[in-house]
Amino acid sequence: MNKIILGVLGSGKGSNFRAIADWIQLKNEKVEIALVVSDVQDAGILELARSRRIPAMYLPPGKFKTKLEPEVESQIAKLFKEAGVNLVVLAGFMRILKGPLLEAFPKRVINIHPSLLPKYPGLEAWKQALNAGETVTGCTVHYVDEGIDSGEIIASAEVNVYGNDTPGSLHARIQEAEHVLYPMVIDWFAKGEDWQYSEETQITQDL
Ligand code: GRF
Repeated sequence: MNKIILGVLGSGKGSNFRAIADWIQLKNEKVEIALVVSDVQDAGILELARSRRIPAMYLPPGKFKTKLEPEVESQIAKLFKEAGVNLVVLAGFMRILKGPLLEAFPKRVINIHPSLLPKYPGLEAWKQALNAGETVTGCTVHYVDEGIDSGEIIASAEVNVYGNDTPGSLHARIQEAEHVLYPMVIDWFAKGEDWQYSEETQITQDL
């Protein structure tokens, strides 16, 4: 087993970060979280990290709305390298990465998205699935590239859509699946497994 040292990037409440941190605490000594960085000063993810005594840092993202200032992205890459990070985990990070971080961590930046990609990339994917009348949606862990939720798929989990679902209820059910899927994929990295996306890496979540 390789020791996996995570650098986490997030902009929001941090429920995926919490699920990963809980899973590490309970059952995985081969994974640790070295640093959490957010582009949002009062993001819940920073609070959660600090309450667990995990180094956490706010970095002002710069003048763009959907990406980071290139210098800021380089700075994050440098901070992660200095912290010994070998797997970058996006957990609700709301900006597109444009180069420096991806170049510094080739095939080592992953994201979780609340749909069965390649369907419904972008914002509020659960709402897109609901509006399209899907009866099954889910979440996907994928490698990050310079596009929007377009990198190579690693694994996905299905979630049923019910007739009485609201966007809120569906999103909550998808998040429960995310909290199972993301630690599972990180565990694969820790085990150094040589896997490829296939029918078998699509798990069905009965929630
Ligand atoms: C998740 O639904 C994830 O799929 C998307 O952003 C959300 C982050 O939620 N990329 P949280 O901050 O982990 O609670």
